[in-house]
Amino acid sequence: MRILVTGGAGYIGSHTTLSLLEAGHEVVVVDNLANSSSESLVRVGHLTGKNVDLRIVDLLDSAAVDELLGAGAFDAVMHFAGLKAVGESVQKPLMYYHNNVVGTINLLRSMDKHDVRTLVFSSSATVYGDNDRVPLTEGCELNASNPYGRTKEHIEDILTDLGSADSRWSIALLRYFNPAGAHESGLIGEDPLGTPNNLLPFVAQVAAGRHEYVKVFGNDYPTTDGTGVRDYVHVVDLALGHLAALSYLEGVQGTFSWNLGTGSGSSVLEVLDAFSAAVGKEVPYEFSPRRSGDSAVSYADPSQAMADLGWSAKRSLARMCEDHWRWQRSNPMGYSSDPASQHRGPQ
Ligand code: NAD
Ligand code: UFG
Repeated sequence: MRILVTGGAGYIGSHTTLSLLEAGHEVVVVDNLANSSSESLVRVGHLTGKNVDLRIVDLLDSAAVDELLGAGAFDAVMHFAGLKAVGESVQKPLMYYHNNVVGTINLLRSMDKHDVRTLVFSSSATVYGDNDRVPLTEGCELNASNPYGRTKEHIEDILTDLGSADSRWSIALLRYFNPAGAHESGLIGEDPLGTPNNLLPFVAQVAAGRHEYVKVFGNDYPTTDGTGVRDYVHVVDLALGHLAALSYLEGVQGTFSWNLGTGSGSSVLEVLDAFSAAVGKEVPYEFSPRRSGDSAVSYADPSQAMADLGWSAKRSLARMCEDHWRWQRSNPMGYSSDPASQHRGPQ
Protein backbone atom coordinates (compact mmCIF):
# COMPACT_ATOMS: atom_id res chain seq x y z
CA MET A 1 0.00 0.00 0.00
CA ARG A 2 0.99 3.63 -0.39
CA ILE A 3 0.88 5.28 3.02
CA LEU A 4 1.14 8.90 4.13
CA VAL A 5 2.75 9.04 7.58
CA THR A 6 2.22 12.35 9.37
CA GLY A 7 4.77 13.06 12.10
CA GLY A 8 6.91 10.29 10.66
CA ALA A 9 10.21 11.94 11.61
CA GLY A 10 9.29 11.68 15.31
CA TYR A 11 9.88 8.90 17.81
CA ILE A 12 7.01 6.49 17.15
CA GLY A 13 6.49 7.62 13.54
CA SER A 14 10.09 6.88 12.53
CA HIS A 15 9.93 3.36 14.01
CA THR A 16 6.60 2.75 12.25
CA THR A 17 7.96 4.11 8.97
CA LEU A 18 10.78 1.58 9.28
CA SER A 19 8.32 -1.28 9.91
CA LEU A 20 6.10 -0.17 6.99
CA LEU A 21 9.07 -0.09 4.61
CA GLU A 22 10.28 -3.47 5.87
CA ALA A 23 6.81 -4.88 5.19
CA GLY A 24 7.01 -3.64 1.59
CA HIS A 25 4.74 -0.58 1.80
CA GLU A 26 5.52 2.68 0.03
CA VAL A 27 5.79 5.59 2.47
CA VAL A 28 5.69 9.37 2.21
CA VAL A 29 6.36 11.24 5.45
CA VAL A 30 4.94 14.67 6.20
CA ASP A 31 6.43 16.52 9.16
CA ASN A 32 7.18 20.12 10.08
CA LEU A 33 10.16 18.96 12.19
CA ALA A 34 8.80 20.95 15.16
CA ASN A 35 9.93 18.20 17.52
CA SER A 36 12.15 16.00 15.39
CA SER A 37 15.09 15.80 13.07
CA SER A 38 15.16 14.64 9.47
CA GLU A 39 18.22 12.61 10.50
CA SER A 40 15.82 9.97 11.92
CA LEU A 41 14.60 9.27 8.40
CA VAL A 42 18.10 9.29 6.93
CA ARG A 43 18.80 6.48 9.37
CA VAL A 44 15.58 4.65 8.49
CA GLY A 45 16.95 4.92 4.94
CA HIS A 46 20.24 3.27 6.02
CA LEU A 47 18.38 0.48 7.78
CA THR A 48 16.04 -0.32 4.89
CA GLY A 49 18.19 0.60 1.90
CA LYS A 50 15.31 2.84 0.76
CA ASN A 51 15.39 6.61 0.48
CA VAL A 52 12.58 8.00 2.66
CA ASP A 53 10.43 10.60 0.94
CA LEU A 54 10.06 13.42 3.51
CA ARG A 55 7.90 16.49 2.83
CA ILE A 56 8.50 19.30 5.28
CA VAL A 57 4.95 20.60 5.59
CA ASP A 58 2.94 21.89 8.54
CA LEU A 59 -0.51 20.32 8.88
CA LEU A 60 -1.78 23.79 9.74
CA ASP A 61 -1.01 24.79 6.14
CA SER A 62 -4.24 23.46 4.67
CA ALA A 63 -3.33 24.32 1.06
CA ALA A 64 -0.05 22.43 1.26
CA VAL A 65 -1.76 19.46 2.93
CA ASP A 66 -4.39 19.43 0.21
CA GLU A 67 -1.78 19.53 -2.53
CA LEU A 68 0.02 16.59 -0.93
CA LEU A 69 -3.14 14.48 -0.62
CA GLY A 70 -4.27 15.46 -4.11
CA ALA A 71 -1.04 14.37 -5.76
CA GLY A 72 -0.17 11.42 -3.55
CA ALA A 73 -2.54 8.61 -4.59
CA PHE A 74 -2.44 7.30 -1.02
CA ASP A 75 -4.30 4.21 0.16
CA ALA A 76 -4.15 5.17 3.83
CA VAL A 77 -2.82 7.68 6.34
CA MET A 78 -1.09 7.04 9.66
CA HIS A 79 -1.45 10.18 11.72
CA PHE A 80 1.24 10.68 14.39
CA ALA A 81 1.75 14.45 13.99
CA GLY A 82 0.92 16.37 17.13
CA LEU A 83 2.36 18.15 20.12
CA LYS A 84 2.56 15.91 23.18
CA ALA A 85 4.02 17.65 26.24
CA VAL A 86 1.40 17.60 29.00
CA GLY A 87 2.94 20.45 31.03
CA GLU A 88 3.34 22.69 27.99
CA SER A 89 -0.29 22.02 27.02
CA VAL A 90 -1.40 23.36 30.41
CA GLN A 91 0.59 26.56 29.78
CA LYS A 92 -0.35 26.92 26.10
CA PRO A 93 -3.74 25.27 25.57
CA LEU A 94 -4.58 27.27 22.43
CA MET A 95 -1.37 26.17 20.76
CA TYR A 96 -2.23 22.54 21.54
CA TYR A 97 -5.86 22.68 20.40
CA HIS A 98 -4.84 24.57 17.26
CA ASN A 99 -1.98 22.31 16.31
CA ASN A 100 -3.53 18.97 17.18
CA VAL A 101 -7.22 19.49 16.44
CA VAL A 102 -7.04 21.96 13.53
CA GLY A 103 -4.10 20.05 12.01
CA THR A 104 -6.19 16.87 12.14
CA ILE A 105 -9.25 18.57 10.61
CA ASN A 106 -7.13 19.91 7.75
CA LEU A 107 -5.84 16.42 7.14
CA LEU A 108 -9.31 14.82 7.28
CA ARG A 109 -10.86 17.36 4.92
CA SER A 110 -8.18 16.74 2.32
CA MET A 111 -8.38 12.98 2.78
CA ASP A 112 -12.13 13.11 2.22
CA LYS A 113 -11.78 15.37 -0.82
CA HIS A 114 -9.24 13.04 -2.41
CA ASP A 115 -11.00 9.77 -1.51
CA VAL A 116 -8.49 8.53 1.06
CA ARG A 117 -10.64 7.26 3.93
CA THR A 118 -8.45 4.83 5.83
CA LEU A 119 -6.78 6.30 8.91
CA VAL A 120 -4.73 5.02 11.83
CA PHE A 121 -4.65 7.65 14.58
CA SER A 122 -2.19 8.00 17.49
CA SER A 123 -4.37 8.32 20.53
CA SER A 124 -3.19 7.80 24.07
CA ALA A 125 -4.05 6.15 27.35
CA THR A 126 -4.17 9.71 28.61
CA VAL A 127 -7.80 9.80 27.35
CA TYR A 128 -8.76 7.63 30.36
CA GLY A 129 -7.61 10.37 32.74
CA ASP A 130 -7.02 9.56 36.38
CA ASN A 131 -8.84 6.26 36.37
CA ASP A 132 -7.62 3.68 38.85
CA ARG A 133 -9.99 0.99 37.51
CA VAL A 134 -7.17 -1.12 36.13
CA PRO A 135 -6.73 -2.88 33.83
CA LEU A 136 -8.17 -0.20 31.54
CA THR A 137 -10.44 -1.50 28.82
CA GLU A 138 -11.53 0.39 25.71
CA GLY A 139 -15.02 0.66 27.26
CA CYS A 140 -13.78 2.68 30.27
CA GLU A 141 -15.07 6.21 30.54
CA LEU A 142 -12.90 8.83 28.83
CA ASN A 143 -11.98 11.70 31.07
CA ALA A 144 -8.71 13.33 30.03
CA SER A 145 -7.38 15.63 32.71
CA ASN A 146 -5.19 18.07 30.79
CA PRO A 147 -5.38 20.03 27.50
CA TYR A 148 -3.07 17.62 25.64
CA GLY A 149 -5.24 14.68 26.65
CA ARG A 150 -8.38 16.57 25.73
CA THR A 151 -7.02 17.20 22.21
CA LYS A 152 -6.79 13.41 21.87
CA GLU A 153 -10.29 12.96 23.27
CA HIS A 154 -11.73 15.63 20.94
CA ILE A 155 -10.03 14.06 17.93
CA GLU A 156 -11.38 10.64 18.94
CA ASP A 157 -14.88 12.21 19.04
CA ILE A 158 -14.41 13.77 15.60
CA LEU A 159 -13.23 10.46 14.17
CA THR A 160 -16.09 8.55 15.79
CA ASP A 161 -18.61 11.02 14.34
CA LEU A 162 -16.96 10.75 10.94
CA GLY A 163 -17.08 6.95 11.01
CA SER A 164 -20.78 7.07 11.92
CA ALA A 165 -21.71 9.72 9.36
CA ASP A 166 -20.02 8.18 6.35
CA SER A 167 -19.62 4.42 6.05
CA ARG A 168 -16.76 4.77 3.60
CA TRP A 169 -14.33 5.61 6.44
CA SER A 170 -12.19 2.98 8.18
CA ILE A 171 -10.54 4.40 11.27
CA ALA A 172 -8.36 2.98 14.03
CA LEU A 173 -7.87 4.83 17.31
CA LEU A 174 -4.74 3.37 18.90
CA ARG A 175 -4.45 4.21 22.59
CA TYR A 176 -0.78 3.82 23.43
CA PHE A 177 0.23 3.27 27.01
CA ASN A 178 3.84 4.28 27.82
CA PRO A 179 6.07 3.95 24.75
CA ALA A 180 9.69 3.11 25.56
CA GLY A 181 12.82 1.60 24.04
CA ALA A 182 14.35 2.04 20.63
CA HIS A 183 15.15 0.04 17.51
CA GLU A 184 17.65 -2.72 18.27
CA SER A 185 20.21 -1.18 15.87
CA GLY A 186 20.65 1.81 18.21
CA LEU A 187 20.32 4.03 15.12
CA ILE A 188 16.87 5.48 15.84
CA GLY A 189 15.24 6.31 19.15
CA GLU A 190 13.56 9.02 21.18
CA ASP A 191 15.31 12.40 20.96
CA PRO A 192 13.47 14.77 23.28
CA LEU A 193 14.02 18.51 22.92
CA GLY A 194 15.31 19.97 26.17
CA THR A 195 14.93 18.15 29.48
CA PRO A 196 12.72 15.08 29.09
CA ASN A 197 9.49 14.89 31.10
CA ASN A 198 9.02 11.16 30.62
CA LEU A 199 10.69 8.61 32.83
CA LEU A 200 12.67 6.44 30.41
CA PRO A 201 14.42 9.23 28.47
CA PHE A 202 15.24 11.01 31.72
CA VAL A 203 16.66 7.85 33.30
CA ALA A 204 18.72 7.27 30.15
CA GLN A 205 20.16 10.79 30.33
CA VAL A 206 21.06 10.32 34.01
CA ALA A 207 22.79 7.05 33.10
CA ALA A 208 24.69 8.97 30.39
CA GLY A 209 25.82 11.57 32.94
CA ARG A 210 23.71 14.44 31.58
CA HIS A 211 21.85 14.85 34.92
CA GLU A 212 22.92 13.95 38.44
CA TYR A 213 20.02 11.73 39.53
CA VAL A 214 16.43 10.74 38.78
CA LYS A 215 13.72 12.36 40.85
CA VAL A 216 11.20 9.67 41.73
CA PHE A 217 7.90 11.50 41.92
CA GLY A 218 6.20 10.11 45.01
CA ASN A 219 6.88 7.04 47.16
CA ASP A 220 3.56 7.02 48.99
CA TYR A 221 1.23 5.72 46.29
CA PRO A 222 -0.90 2.67 47.13
CA THR A 223 1.38 0.39 45.06
CA THR A 224 3.74 -2.42 46.07
CA ASP A 225 6.74 -0.11 46.57
CA GLY A 226 4.90 3.22 46.81
CA THR A 227 5.99 4.49 43.38
CA GLY A 228 3.79 5.03 40.31
CA VAL A 229 2.96 2.06 38.11
CA ARG A 230 2.73 2.28 34.31
CA ASP A 231 2.43 -0.04 31.33
CA TYR A 232 5.66 0.45 29.36
CA VAL A 233 5.42 -0.86 25.80
CA HIS A 234 8.32 -1.25 23.38
CA VAL A 235 8.17 1.20 20.47
CA VAL A 236 8.83 -1.61 17.96
CA ASP A 237 5.84 -3.53 19.35
CA LEU A 238 3.80 -0.33 18.93
CA ALA A 239 4.98 0.04 15.34
CA LEU A 240 3.87 -3.52 14.61
CA GLY A 241 0.49 -2.73 16.19
CA HIS A 242 0.03 -0.05 13.52
CA LEU A 243 0.65 -2.56 10.74
CA ALA A 244 -1.84 -4.95 12.31
CA ALA A 245 -4.45 -2.19 12.57
CA LEU A 246 -3.89 -1.22 8.94
CA SER A 247 -4.49 -4.81 7.80
CA TYR A 248 -7.65 -5.02 9.91
CA LEU A 249 -9.03 -1.82 8.39
CA GLU A 250 -8.74 -3.26 4.88
CA GLY A 251 -11.86 -5.35 5.45
CA VAL A 252 -14.07 -3.11 7.61
CA GLN A 253 -15.71 0.31 7.85
CA GLY A 254 -16.30 2.41 10.96
CA THR A 255 -14.22 3.63 13.88
CA PHE A 256 -12.48 1.17 16.20
CA SER A 257 -10.39 1.74 19.31
CA TRP A 258 -7.65 -0.48 20.70
CA ASN A 259 -5.39 -0.28 23.70
CA LEU A 260 -1.76 -0.90 22.84
CA GLY A 261 -0.03 -1.93 26.05
CA THR A 262 1.51 -5.05 27.55
CA GLY A 263 -1.19 -5.62 30.14
CA SER A 264 1.15 -5.39 33.09
CA GLY A 265 2.47 -2.48 35.07
CA SER A 266 5.97 -1.67 36.35
CA SER A 267 6.78 0.71 39.17
CA VAL A 268 9.30 3.52 38.86
CA LEU A 269 11.70 1.56 41.09
CA GLU A 270 11.31 -1.54 38.89
CA VAL A 271 12.15 0.58 35.84
CA LEU A 272 15.22 1.96 37.61
CA ASP A 273 16.36 -1.58 38.49
CA ALA A 274 15.86 -2.79 34.93
CA PHE A 275 17.70 0.22 33.50
CA SER A 276 20.57 -0.17 35.97
CA ALA A 277 20.88 -3.81 34.92
CA ALA A 278 21.03 -2.76 31.25
CA VAL A 279 23.71 -0.16 31.97
CA GLY A 280 25.70 -2.40 34.33
CA LYS A 281 25.76 0.19 37.10
CA GLU A 282 23.20 1.75 39.39
CA VAL A 283 21.30 4.76 38.09
CA PRO A 284 21.17 7.22 41.02
CA TYR A 285 17.77 8.45 42.23
CA GLU A 286 16.13 10.36 45.05
CA PHE A 287 12.54 10.46 46.20
CA SER A 288 10.72 13.73 45.67
CA PRO A 289 7.09 14.83 46.07
CA ARG A 290 4.36 13.52 43.77
CA ARG A 291 4.05 15.24 40.40
CA SER A 292 0.73 17.02 40.15
CA GLY A 293 -1.77 15.26 37.89
CA ASP A 294 -0.09 11.81 38.07
CA SER A 295 -2.22 8.77 38.84
CA ALA A 296 -0.98 5.90 40.98
CA VAL A 297 -1.50 3.06 38.55
CA SER A 298 -2.24 2.72 34.85
CA TYR A 299 -2.06 -0.39 32.73
CA ALA A 300 -3.95 -1.78 29.79
CA ASP A 301 -6.25 -4.63 29.16
CA PRO A 302 -4.85 -5.34 25.67
CA SER A 303 -7.11 -8.35 24.98
CA GLN A 304 -9.20 -6.53 22.36
CA ALA A 305 -6.12 -5.87 20.24
CA MET A 306 -5.19 -9.55 20.55
CA ALA A 307 -8.70 -10.70 19.61
CA ASP A 308 -9.17 -8.35 16.64
CA LEU A 309 -5.66 -7.68 15.40
CA GLY A 310 -3.76 -10.74 16.60
CA TRP A 311 -1.39 -8.22 18.20
CA SER A 312 0.34 -8.47 21.53
CA ALA A 313 3.46 -6.83 22.91
CA LYS A 314 6.38 -9.26 22.82
CA ARG A 315 9.31 -7.24 24.19
CA SER A 316 10.03 -7.15 27.93
CA LEU A 317 10.91 -4.21 30.16
CA ALA A 318 14.51 -5.51 30.27
CA ARG A 319 14.61 -5.41 26.46
CA MET A 320 13.15 -1.87 26.40
CA CYS A 321 15.87 -0.69 28.76
CA GLU A 322 18.66 -2.46 26.83
CA ASP A 323 17.48 -1.00 23.52
CA HIS A 324 16.89 2.45 25.00
CA TRP A 325 20.38 2.42 26.53
CA ARG A 326 22.03 1.27 23.28
CA TRP A 327 20.41 4.23 21.50
CA GLN A 328 21.38 6.68 24.29
CA ARG A 329 24.94 5.38 24.54
CA SER A 330 25.55 5.58 20.80
CA ASN A 331 23.84 8.98 20.44
CA PRO A 332 24.55 10.88 23.67
CA MET A 333 23.15 14.11 22.24
CA GLY A 334 20.43 12.42 20.16
CA TYR A 335 20.38 13.11 16.44
CA SER A 336 22.31 16.33 16.89
CA SER A 337 25.34 14.11 17.64
CA ASP A 338 25.51 13.95 13.84
CA PRO A 339 24.91 17.59 12.82
CA ALA A 340 26.28 17.22 9.29
CA SER A 341 23.42 14.98 8.24
CA GLN A 342 20.54 16.37 6.20
CA HIS A 343 17.36 14.72 5.10
CA ARG A 344 17.56 13.16 1.69
CA GLY A 345 13.96 13.01 0.51
CA PRO A 346 12.47 15.51 -1.92
CA GLN A 347 10.54 18.45 -0.43
P1 NAD B 1 7.14 13.12 18.48
O1 NAD B 1 7.06 14.51 18.97
O2 NAD B 1 8.47 12.45 18.49
O3 NAD B 1 6.51 13.00 17.02
C1 NAD B 1 5.46 13.84 16.58
C2 NAD B 1 5.89 14.42 15.25
O4 NAD B 1 4.86 15.27 14.76
C3 NAD B 1 7.16 15.27 15.34
O5 NAD B 1 8.08 14.83 14.36
C4 NAD B 1 6.67 16.71 15.06
O6 NAD B 1 7.66 17.46 14.41
C5 NAD B 1 5.45 16.43 14.18
N1 NAD B 1 4.45 17.49 14.18
C6 NAD B 1 3.86 18.09 15.25
N2 NAD B 1 2.98 19.00 14.84
C7 NAD B 1 2.98 19.00 13.48
C8 NAD B 1 2.29 19.74 12.49
N3 NAD B 1 1.42 20.70 12.79
N4 NAD B 1 2.56 19.47 11.19
C9 NAD B 1 3.46 18.51 10.85
N5 NAD B 1 4.14 17.79 11.75
C10 NAD B 1 3.91 18.04 13.05
O7 NAD B 1 6.10 12.26 19.35
P2 NAD B 1 5.89 10.69 19.44
O8 NAD B 1 6.27 10.27 20.81
O9 NAD B 1 6.48 10.01 18.27
O10 NAD B 1 4.31 10.64 19.38
C11 NAD B 1 3.61 10.41 18.17
C12 NAD B 1 2.13 10.52 18.43
O11 NAD B 1 1.77 9.59 19.45
C13 NAD B 1 1.70 11.89 18.94
O12 NAD B 1 0.45 12.22 18.37
C14 NAD B 1 1.56 11.68 20.43
O13 NAD B 1 0.63 12.57 20.99
C15 NAD B 1 1.10 10.24 20.51
N6 NAD B 1 1.43 9.57 21.78
C16 NAD B 1 2.71 9.60 22.23
C17 NAD B 1 3.01 9.01 23.46
C18 NAD B 1 4.39 9.06 24.01
O14 NAD B 1 4.54 8.95 25.24
N7 NAD B 1 5.44 9.19 23.21
C19 NAD B 1 2.00 8.37 24.19
C20 NAD B 1 0.72 8.33 23.67
C21 NAD B 1 0.44 8.93 22.45
N1 UFG C 1 8.34 9.74 36.84
C1 UFG C 1 9.29 9.96 37.82
N2 UFG C 1 10.33 10.79 37.54
C2 UFG C 1 10.48 11.41 36.31
C3 UFG C 1 9.49 11.17 35.31
C4 UFG C 1 8.43 10.33 35.63
O1 UFG C 1 9.19 9.44 38.91
O2 UFG C 1 11.45 12.17 36.11
C5 UFG C 1 7.23 8.80 37.12
C6 UFG C 1 5.84 9.41 37.01
O3 UFG C 1 5.44 9.97 38.24
C7 UFG C 1 5.02 8.18 36.59
C8 UFG C 1 5.99 7.35 35.76
O4 UFG C 1 7.29 7.79 36.13
O5 UFG C 1 4.67 7.43 37.73
C9 UFG C 1 5.82 7.54 34.25
O6 UFG C 1 5.85 8.93 33.95
P1 UFG C 1 5.94 9.46 32.45
O7 UFG C 1 6.01 10.94 32.51
O8 UFG C 1 7.00 8.75 31.70
O9 UFG C 1 4.56 8.96 31.82
P2 UFG C 1 3.05 9.29 32.19
O10 UFG C 1 2.39 7.98 32.48
O11 UFG C 1 2.96 10.33 33.22
O12 UFG C 1 2.50 9.91 30.85
C10 UFG C 1 2.91 9.42 29.57
C11 UFG C 1 2.85 10.56 28.57
C12 UFG C 1 1.43 10.96 28.36
C13 UFG C 1 0.65 9.77 27.91
C14 UFG C 1 0.74 8.68 28.95
C15 UFG C 1 0.03 7.45 28.49
O13 UFG C 1 3.60 11.66 29.03
O14 UFG C 1 1.36 11.91 27.35
O15 UFG C 1 2.12 8.36 29.17
O16 UFG C 1 0.42 7.11 27.21
F1 UFG C 1 -0.63 10.10 27.78
